[in-house]
Amino acid sequence: MTVIACIDDLKRLHRKRAPKMFYDYAESGSYTEQTFRDNTTDFQKIRLRQKVAVDMSNRSVAGTMIGQPVAMPVALAPVGMTGMQSADGEIKAARAAEAFGVPFTLSTMSICSIEDVAAHTSKPFWFQLYVMRDEEFVDNIIARAKAAGCSALVLTLDLQILGQRHKDLKNGLTAPPRLTLPNIVNMTTKPAWCMGMLGTRRRSFGNIVGHAKGVGDLSSLTSWTNEQFDPQLDWGKIARLREKWGGKMILKGILDADDARRAADFGADAIIVSNHGGRQLDGALSSIRILPSIVAAVKGQTEIWLDSGIRSGQDILKALAMGADATMIGRSYIYGLGAMGQAGVTMALEILKKELDITMALCGERDVAALGRHNLLVPKDFE
Ligand code: FNR
Repeated sequence: MTVIACIDDLKRLHRKRAPKMFYDYAESGSYTEQTFRDNTTDFQKIRLRQKVAVDMSNRSVAGTMIGQPVAMPVALAPVGMTGMQSADGEIKAARAAEAFGVPFTLSTMSICSIEDVAAHTSKPFWFQLYVMRDEEFVDNIIARAKAAGCSALVLTLDLQILGQRHKDLKNGLTAPPRLTLPNIVNMTTKPAWCMGMLGTRRRSFGNIVGHAKGVGDLSSLTSWTNEQFDPQLDWGKIARLREKWGGKMILKGILDADDARRAADFGADAIIVSNHGGRQLDGALSSIRILPSIVAAVKGQTEIWLDSGIRSGQDILKALAMGADATMIGRSYIYGLGAMGQAGVTMALEILKKELDITMALCGERDVAALGRHNLLVPKDFE
């Protein structure tokens, strides 16, 4: 029996079980993958200070995100095509998050639709919006998210143009994703996965196909995105969207202190310091390296969350101690989903929570709210 001890074990199993095209889609970064690699290696450059002889009983890693109680300050980030990693993957991930007590964010580019996920969950989830050129579609999807009871809109700002991932290009990944027989038989045989996927009626973008004009035309992921996404998205358009939505709004993809100030002045309920998991601007600094400048610019004015590169509870602790109010994870839960479905997502969350709790105790802290720079040894060039 394979013992799963850490997120890396889930990753290995995901790689073994999922078709190469979908594993590669999750695991790759854009262009040279420099930023993708830095996201994880930069966390390792930050070291922790041990404290002993401190009462470590009654510890808590619980917190809040935009006023919502969370079992730990971690939310599931929006991940496109999650339903390709495991049949009905969005529903499985949402259910695992709900049972665990952390927020789930449904991507615009999901396989299961907003309505599908709402029908299979009992608590509100968050909806992530990519702004398309078709304004009617955008207004309509906002209305659908409202009708489904979504409690926050996560507006992603860093992907109006798609950064190329060489692996997707070479694997022939298309948009909308098409699960055809040649796709399956050309891949190394993954019988369990094939049976699972073929058992689902959801094989394309559930939120988009049938709701927007012309999106069913098959194209490479890059050309499709560039055809559909609105390159004119600016602060004026963001204000229009907030008006349409009327609820909590989170701005995702902030990597610059001036942009963070702008977002805070705009009244964002939270900002997400994110380089999209190294999938967009290759050559950008890792999120953890940029975090201090953003904390200095807007701490206290809006919630600051961080994603990109979190693979352990130690990483979560480092992000919080560096000044983030909370974090998001993408691949860490996708590996779990691809490895073992819903149980794998739950396992990923359990692993992260346990690692966070134990690391916090060894740092001599009892509450995540007390974490700070005093717990860390940070290289000088992170400032
Ligand atoms: C993403 N991400 C993403 N973000 C978003 O706003 N909408 C989306 O549809 C997607 N799709 C997507 C697919 C895949 C396969 C990945 C890995 C990521 C980015 C995601 O929300 C998050 O920012 C990163 O995943 C964080 O980095 P880590 O945790 O994966 O290192």
